[in-house]
Amino acid sequence: MSTLAIATAKEVFELLRDDLVAIEQELGRDSASGVSTITEIAEYLRSGGGKRIRPTLLLLSSHALGYTGQAAIRLGAVVEMVHSATLVHDDIIDSANVRRGRPSANTTWGNEKCVLAGDWLYMQAFSVALKEKSLRVLDLLIGLTQQMVEGELLQIQKLGRAVSEAEYYDLIYRKTACLFSVSMQLGAVLAGATESVEASVGAYGRTVGLAFQIVDDVLDLTATEEVLGKPVASDLREGKATLAVIHSIDHGTAADRRTIQRVLDDRSFENVSREKIREILVRNGSVEYAMGVADRYAEQSRQALAAIADSEYKRALLWVPDFVVAREK
Ligand code: IPE
Ligand code: IPE
Ligand code: MG
Ligand code: MG
Repeated sequence: MSTLAIATAKEVFELLRDDLVAIEQELGRDSASGVSTITEIAEYLRSGGGKRIRPTLLLLSSHALGYTGQAAIRLGAVVEMVHSATLVHDDIIDSANVRRGRPSANTTWGNEKCVLAGDWLYMQAFSVALKEKSLRVLDLLIGLTQQMVEGELLQIQKLGRAVSEAEYYDLIYRKTACLFSVSMQLGAVLAGATESVEASVGAYGRTVGLAFQIVDDVLDLTATEEVLGKPVASDLREGKATLAVIHSIDHGTAADRRTIQRVLDDRSFENVSREKIREILVRNGSVEYAMGVADRYAEQSRQALAAIADSEYKRALLWVPDFVVAREK
């Protein structure tokens, strides 16, 4: 395989430019409902931008495996709509007021309307997917949606608890990595790939997705709201123990454990400052630990592509894990 690597986001964007523009147009058409409130919310979500990483993966997967047709555009829009629907619901569940650097939809339209707009978006995604007349496509999307809902529900059940690393990985697979995996698998289905190739690109998506959520959780602890475009230090305030925090709970002193549990119980930094939490995480090397795990998943994801023929699309796929671990938002 050529060692020439696609090095920048700009180059990947250039490679996919026409397809990404077509996906934006498809998303524009798909945001229209006969009920104006739904159109307004769907349009607001669409125009908020975002990294479009899931459609990018679907396009790269399908093209790396030789597919050139229009269905990748439609299914790219489908995975982005599923993502959007989960974000609207997630911001309601997390009572978050900022998303993509703007007020989240729930702060503008309220929870009731946003729950319904999220439901509508899920079904709009399925309705566009139905055009492929493929049971395999529907099967993947149904399984995915159930995993994501189960993931968010399990997360609620575990709020305030010092979960184990194994529970954490199960949770982030369901709520995030499964969609990355399915985006890759849908590309393989379009290309008519063998089961084994579909499994390989699915494994790539799973490991990139796990790295992605681990980094999202680290950024919640280390980034600023201005850069991230969404609230920071929110996971602990919501009672969520993420990987770096779990590491300090498992490897810190008894006092560290009590201090962290206090924040998880209080759901606020009222009695324990953010500074104190940061001190605990730094002293235990917990952020480095979490980033190390993300790096390992990134490496695994590159290995999962070993059997895929070289192409500029494959090289772009090899770049994505680096982007995911190095990203600042
Ligand atoms: C946010 O996903 C939700 C998570 C799974 C962490 P993204 O970070 O991909 O969100 P956008 O689409 O770029 O805003
Ligand atoms: C991602 O989890 C959940 C979804 C899959 C919607 P988070 O709750 O960490 O996502 P952000 O940080 O709000 O984007
Ligand atoms: Mg959230
Ligand atoms: Mg988060």
